[in-house]
Parts: sequence; C-alpha cells; structure tokens
Amino acid sequence: MPTTLIVLAHPERRSFNGAWADATEAAVRAQGDSVLRSDLCQMGFDAVERAAHYGDWPEEAPFDPLKAQEGATGAGSTPKDVRAEVDKIREADRMVLHFPLWWFAPPAILKGWFDRAFQHGVLHDVDKRFDTGMSRGKQALMCVTTGSTATESAHNGKEGDINLLLWPAAYTLRYLGFDVLEPVVVHGVHGYHRGDRETQLVDRLTATLNAQKDIIGGFSTRPRLRFNADDDFDETGQLRSDRPSVTPFIRHKATFDE
Ligand SMILES: Cc1cc2nc3c(=O)[nH]c(=O)nc-3n(C[C@H](O)[C@H](O)[C@H](O)COP(=O)(O)O)c2cc1C
Repeated sequence: MPTTLIVLAHPERRSFNGAWADATEAAVRAQGDSVLRSDLCQMGFDAVERAAHYGDWPEEAPFDPLKAQEGATGAGSTPKDVRAEVDKIREADRMVLHFPLWWFAPPAILKGWFDRAFQHGVLHDVDKRFDTGMSRGKQALMCVTTGSTATESAHNGKEGDINLLLWPAAYTLRYLGFDVLEPVVVHGVHGYHRGDRETQLVDRLTATLNAQKDIIGGFSTRPRLRFNADDDFDETGQLRSDRPSVTPFIRHKATFDE
C-alpha cells in the first residue's frame, strides 16, 4: 500500500490551496493508500536553518549548515522537527506539494523546508544525488496556484514562463532522486474577481477539486519532467556537446538569441 506525503505551504487552511490539499488527501485515501501530512504553516515549521537548531555546534565556530546537518545525522542529534520531516519523506513513496506562487517562486516556508528537511547525510550526500539519489523510485508532484493568468504565465508571458519558475524546485526534487511529474498549475486564482468572473473562477476551482481524483489515480502514467542524466555531463560538470539540452537552465549556447 503506497504512502503519500502531502505538503501544504499556505498560511490559511480555508484557502483554495488548503481545499486542494484536502482533495488530494481524499483521493489518496479513496484508493486505499496511506497519507502523511506536513501542513507547514499550521505546524509553525521554522524555515530558517541556523546554529541554534544544533545545540552541540560549538559557539566559537562559524556555522556550517552542511556540516551541521551531516554531523547531527551521524550523532543522532538531528533537530526533532526536522527528524519528523525526514522520517515522513523516507516513509513516503510519493510526495504532493501544494503551494501558491509568491514572488515568482514557492513561498519561503517551502524553500525553508527544503533547506532544513532535505538533510545532508540522510536524504542526500555527495555520492548519492541526481541519478544515484536516495529517493530513486519515488515520485513528486507540484500542485501550484498563480494569481497571473495562463497567458501571462506562458513561455512568452510577461509574468515569466511558469515551467521555468518551478524549475529550481523541480531540480531540488530531482537532486534527491525523485521522478518529478509534470506540475498541475491553476492560474488566475485571487480574490479580486467580481460578478461573472468570480462565478467562472469558482466553477474552475470546483472542477480542479473534482479532477484531483483523476490526477492522483493517474500518478503512475502522468508525464515526468525531463532532466539530463549524470552521464550527459563531462568531468568538469558541463553538458557534453553531443547530449541534448532539455531545459533552458542547462544549455549549449550562453546566449538567449532566438
Ligand atoms: C506575497 C505574494 C506574492 C505573490 N506573487 C505572485 C507571483 O509572483 N506570481 C503570481 O502569479 N501570483 C502571485 N501572487 C498571487 C498568488 O499566487 C495567489 O494569490 C494564490 O495563488 C491564490 O491561491 P489561494 O487562494 O489558495 O491563496 C502572490 C501573492 C502573494 C500573497
């Protein structure tokens, strides 16, 4: 029986994001799978990695987050809140991340969850990342809302290509070894619509909640984002000239000329 970890990064449980995360939970339970949850804001998750979390970090030494994380793993002194998140991530076969786009990126609390919960030494290390990542065989899906419209979020839209804005989060998951499913993005979500436009938004959001059963049911067949394999890079870490560029973030030409 697969286990799904649902991560919600929104300060209001009664938001659309909150309802969407609940629809995911209902869909996962309906197919008989287990659910774990991390409602980051409701948990009061501390998103800032710092020395104070590591009681045994010597006061006189400059704080080194990677060393602190690795040392704590070895010593069994990983901060309690982080330990709980690491355990959930390790137990889960799948992760579904629910969040709104805030300033062209996931909310800081989700980035801070990556910073702290993706502990060096236990969820990744220098030999176990990308193709050899510790979460190989697991899948992750981002369910995202934007205030901007679909056209504004397209490859030529003024709000920037949503697929590129989500790339750093997707690549973080890929770094851990996850297969990253094509994100589900609902655009034009905000409370300023009135009249017909408000009705249309409510209809669209209701349809999204109803469709979540199919999204969760189609997890195994949903297209995966493409990433370069480890072998596509040479010993200096650069994309080999005979390997394809699958994202503008890693490309052959330095320029963006069309
Ligand atoms: C701090 C903040 C920053 C935001 N930045 C963006 C943004 O960069 N792009 C965008 O499309 N919408 C942006 N929005 C709008 C939110 O994405 C939108 O309100 C949210 O997706 C609606 O979902 P909700 O009803 O569940 O909160 C921002 C909202 C806030 C509060």
